[in-house]
Amino acid sequence: MIKKLEDHISYIKNFDSKDKDEIESMKIKFLGRKGLINELFSDFKNVPADQKKEYGQKINDLKNLASDKYENLKLGIKKSRKSITEDYTKPGFPISSGSLHPITLIKNRIVDIFSKVGFELSEGPEIEDDWHNFTALNLPQDHPARDMQDTFFIQQDPDILLRTHTSSVQVRYLEDNPPPLKIISPGRVYRNEAISSRSHCMFHQIEGIYVDEKVSFADLKQMILYFTKSMFGKSKLRFRPSFFPFTEPSAEVDIYWGLETETDYRITKGTGWLEIMGCGMVDPNVLQNCNIDSEKYTGYAFGLGIERIAMLIYQIPDIRLFFENDIRFLNQFK
Ligand code: PHE
Repeated sequence: MIKKLEDHISYIKNFDSKDKDEIESMKIKFLGRKGLINELFSDFKNVPADQKKEYGQKINDLKNLASDKYENLKLGIKKSRKSITEDYTKPGFPISSGSLHPITLIKNRIVDIFSKVGFELSEGPEIEDDWHNFTALNLPQDHPARDMQDTFFIQQDPDILLRTHTSSVQVRYLEDNPPPLKIISPGRVYRNEAISSRSHCMFHQIEGIYVDEKVSFADLKQMILYFTKSMFGKSKLRFRPSFFPFTEPSAEVDIYWGLETETDYRITKGTGWLEIMGCGMVDPNVLQNCNIDSEKYTGYAFGLGIERIAMLIYQIPDIRLFFENDIRFLNQFK
């Protein structure tokens, strides 16, 4: 009887298969309810007393061997199946990734261009007080030029408002830093204007200011030339005399973009020209309001509209598209 057991043990030891059915029938044959092992257990009573101990051990060995074998072979099948289905030459699952907003893309480009020539980045709050947005910029209370920018006030408090331009950051920086100084500051600005294809009540500007000894209008012109060449690859410009309370003299700068596409016609209203910034020499009153010696120092400042530039570069005919968050629009800037 022991011999029979030993034969079974060596059979199991040598058993090998990759066939699922074969492995299952091995299991049924040995470990099934009416299988060999149960049969051998019931034979136990017929085993001579002196062999009972050895028989018992061997039968347990057989049982363990058979169930280990079964588990291992099953695992083997699973593994080999896995390696067949994993085809590493297949293309991966597409992972949808986001993208930067076109306004951010253009802002980053503008910041890069000015960083190259030594402008540092400085930011200020969007909720401003009257002093930084108006009064220090040479716009005293009741100055008619305050009407140039229709203002959102916060909770009827005439002192707290949403900044109407990034020029407020000029004041904050000038108050805290002695010249020479050279900064740009991008950010959102707010005006209570009717929304149309060219204007929106929230938009983005980049302010630039340079204050040092002997800064002149020629420096300003040269900087704007450098900027438009780097940004657009063209620099046919028009400086129109203008008025800002915080600069004297002041100018508005138009770029000649051309009329190659229908969008060019729409954005430039059929002229080929588009105003892209206001600029001028910092008014001495502004320097004095910030405790800077206006006899010793002069400076220039400019304020660029980011949407306008993005509209030209990406050929976007309507400013409202920037703020609708339509995924079909945004996906084009990946
Ligand atoms: N703050 C002006 C505007 O928003 C632009 C400007 C900035 C003009 C700096 C001159 C100098 O229209």
